Amino acid sequence: MADFHIRLDGVTKTYGSLRVVDNLRLDIIRGEFLSLLGPSGSGKTTILMMLAGFQDASEGTIYVDGNMINDIPSHKRNMGVVFQSYALFPHMSVAQNVAFPLKMRGFGRSDIRERVERALDMVQLSTMKDRKPSQLSGGQQQRVALARALVFEPGVVLMDEPLGALDKQLREQMQLDIRELHARLGLTIVFVTHDQSEALTMSDRIAVFNKGRIEQIDTPRMIYDHPATRFVAEFIGETNLMEGEIAGREGDEAMVRLSDGCMMRVRARDGLERGAKVLVTIRPEKVELSDPPAAANSFPVTVSDTIYQGDHFRVQLQGAGQRFIARRDRRAAEWPQGARLHATFAADDCWVIAP
Ligand SMILES: Nc1ncnc2c1ncn2[C@@H]1O[C@H](COP(=O)(O)OP(=O)(O)OP(=O)(O)O)[C@@H](O)[C@H]1O
Ligand SMILES: [Mg+2]
Repeated sequence: MADFHIRLDGVTKTYGSLRVVDNLRLDIIRGEFLSLLGPSGSGKTTILMMLAGFQDASEGTIYVDGNMINDIPSHKRNMGVVFQSYALFPHMSVAQNVAFPLKMRGFGRSDIRERVERALDMVQLSTMKDRKPSQLSGGQQQRVALARALVFEPGVVLMDEPLGALDKQLREQMQLDIRELHARLGLTIVFVTHDQSEALTMSDRIAVFNKGRIEQIDTPRMIYDHPATRFVAEFIGETNLMEGEIAGREGDEAMVRLSDGCMMRVRARDGLERGAKVLVTIRPEKVELSDPPAAANSFPVTVSDTIYQGDHFRVQLQGAGQRFIARRDRRAAEWPQGARLHATFAADDCWVIAP
């Protein structure tokens, strides 16, 4: 049985008549890296603020280690926070910033000195301990914020888009650093992002939010390969969607009749009866393109555009009464506009969802 570190039970946050977090039920497993992913305004920051104790839940209960914490003030919650809006104190040095949570918690002077040194070592900023935040780069400031969140050895670290302001290279380095710290310290991390590739690379599980509710919570792999809803399929990466209905089943596979009459073989899933309306999703990198038709699930298509994207080509296609996108290796031929090809899909790569 999983060991739940944090439980949100029926947690709701309302502003007037607006329900920005709607009856949320979420169990966070001890030691996991959980990402909250969703579009702007879906309630991610609000959830983190309630966990940290900076905002009250309108309804519902939050438990940590089985104890209700709704009325516990934030500095007694044993949670480190790295919020974009919770910036470093500009008038304090790096070392004073990192020492701050320890002072708040009444640690002794020599204990503070030792812990601050260790935390700054961990983020490789020991040599900069006397600088002011304004004398640091954006990435160094984020590392100070990380050290400040970890210095009192909390069991839980809450992070709200901590890498949003960094350039790509530094962001990717920090992603690795945070993952490494997570593994080494055995932390439970709740990490807010609206960058889906960041969520896919960093997380043990991803909770995909839409309008204050969880659409799906699962491993990155399941979220990407087996999205539960159209919203998830479209929010995580690019996808092709085809409308149809279940025409029959054969073992692990189902036949789908597409709206233009074409038949497709897809991976079957439970609860789909003959006649059920479905959407078939297929990821662009799973679309095979060939000149002569391949075996099953093959449609004639016409290339409407091929865009060079460095490490791959993005091929826009028209066929079976709709548009498709394929992602092909850069070694693949660069097909001219108007080229007639066949698009082929393996049944296993075609995943059906309710429309
Ligand atoms: N103090 C407030 N009063 C009224 N509405 C608020 C308040 N704070 C937040 N909201 C609303 O709550 C909703 C959720 O906000 P939240 O900041 O949690 O979203 P988010 O998912 O973090 O978005 P983003 O990705 O843009 O940071 C938004 O529609 C926002 O306008
Ligand atoms: Mg936010």
